[in-house]
Amino acid sequence: MWMSVPPLPSPAARRRFRRLLLAWYGAHGRDLPWRRTDDPYHILVSEVMLQQTQVDRVLPKYHEWLEEYPSLEALASASEAEVAERWRPLGYNIRPRRLHAIAREAVTRYGGQLPSDEETLLSFKGIGAYTAGAIRSFAFRERAAILDTNVARVLFRVFVGRGEAKAHATRRQLWTISGALVPRKHVFDFNQALMDFGALVCVARKPKCLVCPMTKMCRSYPPPARP
Ligand code: ADE
Repeated sequence: MWMSVPPLPSPAARRRFRRLLLAWYGAHGRDLPWRRTDDPYHILVSEVMLQQTQVDRVLPKYHEWLEEYPSLEALASASEAEVAERWRPLGYNIRPRRLHAIAREAVTRYGGQLPSDEETLLSFKGIGAYTAGAIRSFAFRERAAILDTNVARVLFRVFVGRGEAKAHATRRQLWTISGALVPRKHVFDFNQALMDFGALVCVARKPKCLVCPMTKMCRSYPPPARP
């Protein structure tokens, strides 16, 4: 049956992937401010900002935002117009409204805290599967999977690759692979490492296979020759 559904990585492949990824991250991972906190609100702000904006542009805004709105309560009590205005340099879009609504809901329903369980997080308008996984793994250090476009690309290339399985690997299957890979320990580093690996090595166009530690286990290596 695995012709249509990619098999889950074997326990040995999982261990190998984790070991290689964490070693790579130890040497090459970026030192970013949201990796020096486990405050759920700070994690939420960073993840919402990073959804559509590059790290370099997020950095100054992240600090500025937390100075202006140091807590969910502070954000909740600001007006929607003010919040949208402060967000403006990050683009004209729905994200500030979502963030603001999450803050208000956290204040009215959860005493100004973000909950840690998946179901409650997903019940917030504006918190999807990725953000819930990020909050749970980064803020609460739970063994929760993440999957965004970058992570999906990494897992697809390494564990699905070309051939039959390719056309059939769905988002749900990639979530399952991501879930099977998350280690019991080092969840925080592992998920952050996945993000960095997708952003720095296993990039969408011209992946940097020459410096990639995964080539021996990667189902997409070697990449097709370019004309
Ligand atoms: N993009 C989305 N989340 C990220 C994170 N935690 N670190 C770096 N880039 C990201």
